[in-house]
This record gives sequence, C-alpha cells and structure tokens, in this order.
Amino acid sequence: MIAKTFTGMEEVLAMELTDLGATEVRTVKRGVQFYGDKKLLYKANYTCRSALRILKPIASFKAMNETQLYDEVRKIDWSEYLDTERTFSIDGITSYSNITHSKYLALKTKDAIADQFREKFGKRPSVNKDYPDVAINVRIFKNEATVSLDSSGESLHKRGYRVATGPAPMNEVLAAGLILLSGWKGDTNFIDPMCGSGTIPIEAALLARNIPSGYFRDDYSFKRWKDFDSDLWNEIKTEAENEIKEFDKKIIGSDWSGRILTVAKDNVSSAGLKSTITLKTSFIDDLQPIEGGGILIMNPPYGERIKIDDIIELYKGIGDALKQNFIGYSAWVISSHQEALKFVGLRPSRNITVFNGQLECKFAKFELYSGSKKNSGENKQTEEKFRQNEKNDFVKRKRKRI
Ligand SMILES: C[S@@+](CC[C@H](N)C(=O)[O-])C[C@H]1O[C@@H](n2cnc3c(N)ncnc32)[C@H](O)[C@@H]1O
Repeated sequence: MIAKTFTGMEEVLAMELTDLGATEVRTVKRGVQFYGDKKLLYKANYTCRSALRILKPIASFKAMNETQLYDEVRKIDWSEYLDTERTFSIDGITSYSNITHSKYLALKTKDAIADQFREKFGKRPSVNKDYPDVAINVRIFKNEATVSLDSSGESLHKRGYRVATGPAPMNEVLAAGLILLSGWKGDTNFIDPMCGSGTIPIEAALLARNIPSGYFRDDYSFKRWKDFDSDLWNEIKTEAENEIKEFDKKIIGSDWSGRILTVAKDNVSSAGLKSTITLKTSFIDDLQPIEGGGILIMNPPYGERIKIDDIIELYKGIGDALKQNFIGYSAWVISSHQEALKFVGLRPSRNITVFNGQLECKFAKFELYSGSKKNSGENKQTEEKFRQNEKNDFVKRKRKRI
C-alpha cells in the first residue's frame, strides 16, 4: 500500500505504520510504501495521524503510449472491484512520461473500464466525481503506470471535529505530524500560545488520550468497496476505542484574539475535549507557564500580509516571552519566514524543513534553559543586517514598479 503525506512527514508516518504492524516500510517522496492486510488498511485509515490518504495498488505496467495504457487497464478484472450499480472516479497524475496530460490519462482509463463492462455485462458503471463508491488513482512516472484504489475518499485531514475555521487554520495532518516530529508522547504539559482555531491543541489532546484520528469521521471509501468487511471494521474500532485514556497533565491553547478563541472553543467542544484543553485569551507575553515544564508548539502568522517591522517585532516578542516565562520548556515554532525566525534570538537546536502545502517552512526547536535569557551580540548584528537587507529589497521592488 502507499500512504500519502506532506513533504517532511514521511519518517513519522513510517513510524506510525510500523507501530501498527506494517512490514517492508519504505519512505518515498511525500509518502510511505508498506505491506499489510485488510485489517492494516482499515487501521491505517482510522488511526494514522500523519497520513493524508491510503492507496491500495492493484496493477503496475509499462505505459509507453495511450494504446498500451488502454490495453493494460482492460486486462484488470474490474468486476472484482466494481459493478454496474457502483459509481467510480478516476484521478490521473503523470510526470516524465510520453503520456503528458493527466486529464487524457484519466479519460483513457475510464474508457478501458467502461468498455470492459459493456462487453461483459452490456452496461457500464457511472462516473461520480464528487462521491464515488470506488475512487481510482492512476499514476504514470517515467512511463511506468500504477493503478490504485483510494481507500480513504476524502483526505484524512478531514477528521470530522472541525465545525468552524479561522483565517489561517492549519491542516490537521500537518498539526499532528509536527507534534509527532517534536517527539512529544503526551506525557508532559503542552502549550500552543497562538492557537487560532485550536488545531494544534486538539491534535495534541487526541494523541495524549489515544483517541484515534478518525474517531469523529464516519466516511471512508473502503466502506463502499465490494469486499468491505463490516465485522472487521467494527472490531478495529472497538479495539482502538478501548485504548482511549485520560490525560493528567495540562494542554493550553491561547491567542490574543477573543474572536478566534470562540472558534477554537466550538472545535474543542465538538471534539469532546473541553475537560482536556484549557483555552485562554492572552498575548504570548502575558501567558503564564504551567508548573512542571513541558513543550510549546506554535504557528505564528507567516507574514505575507504583515509589514516587515511588525514581523521583526512579533518574532522578537516570541523570543522574549519564551526566554522570560518558559525556562525548562522546549519550544517549537513553524514558520515560512526563515529570516524572521532569527529574531527569536535563540539558536535552534533543530531546524526541520516541512511543507505546509506548497509553502516551504522551517520547524525550529528552541531549548529554554536559564542561560537563554541573554540576547547575544551576534543576534543583534544579524538583526541589524536583516532590517537593512529587507529595506534595500523593498526599495528595489518599489523602483521596479515605477
Ligand atoms: C497562523 S494563525 C494560527 C492558526 C492555528 N494554528 C489554527 O490552526 O487555526 C496565528 C495566530 O496567532 C495569533 N497571534 C498573533 N500574534 C499574537 C500574540 N502576540 N500573542 C498571541 N497570539 C497571537 C493570531 O491571532 C492567530 O490566531
């Protein structure tokens, strides 16, 4: 099978799958290949926090041109997966191949399936692009085609608990992946001081309490497959739900915006996590730490619409707050603004590249010991240089426009 994820999350997804019992686990770009049975397929969909979807390959072959593609797709016995009462959809992706158009690839695949059904049964199953029973994925890479069934349907980031969103909600799979990347095991206090609509604290609480990522979601494509085993599915759900536990530390989500916190409140209630997550209206500088140390993970505004001086102030403020109030904590900050991260004024002990969709970001870890309070001369110099460079660039851009 192939589990898809965001760039940068491949390793954590491989670990999740290995923990579930997957074998021959191998990371690939934006995904993980692995072996497993039907039980594993259901489990991966229900519990893998860092997976976007799980594909089940059913055939691979050379596809040098459209005729070869059509012939090979027709060789697959489609009556194993589809019948005339079930609907289907085709998603085509092609790269570095003779067949260059993904829409054409999807069309040829659809023709081959429809023609096989017409020949055998005198009629064909219908296409339903929005809510198919069987979602088929055809990928050609360097003229090698793989035909897979998409077992998830809607992307697995659609957990089912989000009832409201703010202006820049984080993708749930990304949030969970960041928490897994940080190595947090749900055994210490957890704070997101810029929680927005609450995605990071909610994903942290689900992890800490062992609540399956798919707990609130009912729909998966595999439930509409011909071979769906409802007893096995119920068994998996019961097994996973029996592992749900309480959490005896604290999870705090805070944000300066009271308006966005009402959104977070709705999401937290919808996930049934009111007793696990405390939400507070606070600027990061005013937030008081919880005794006993722990971890902070935050996603400050990225800055596309924020003025450069404000970005510098924001990141300096984050650094000051961390140094003054969170000694004993580890802090992780995700930002696409690599230069701005320097204004935190602390040297990151880790700096991981991750992608938020197409946007390249750094996920930086800052260890906060008592010595972290000093702002070194080196940082002040970097700050000055950065301000100057940004201003020069800004002037250049303006001149060009004139
Ligand atoms: C990119 S959004 C976070 C999105 C969030 N992860 C989610 O999934 O909805 C950044 C948040 O930081 C908050 N924020 C900005 N400056 C802040 C400050 N100084 N103190 C506290 N919150 C702040 C904003 O109100 C905004 O909700």
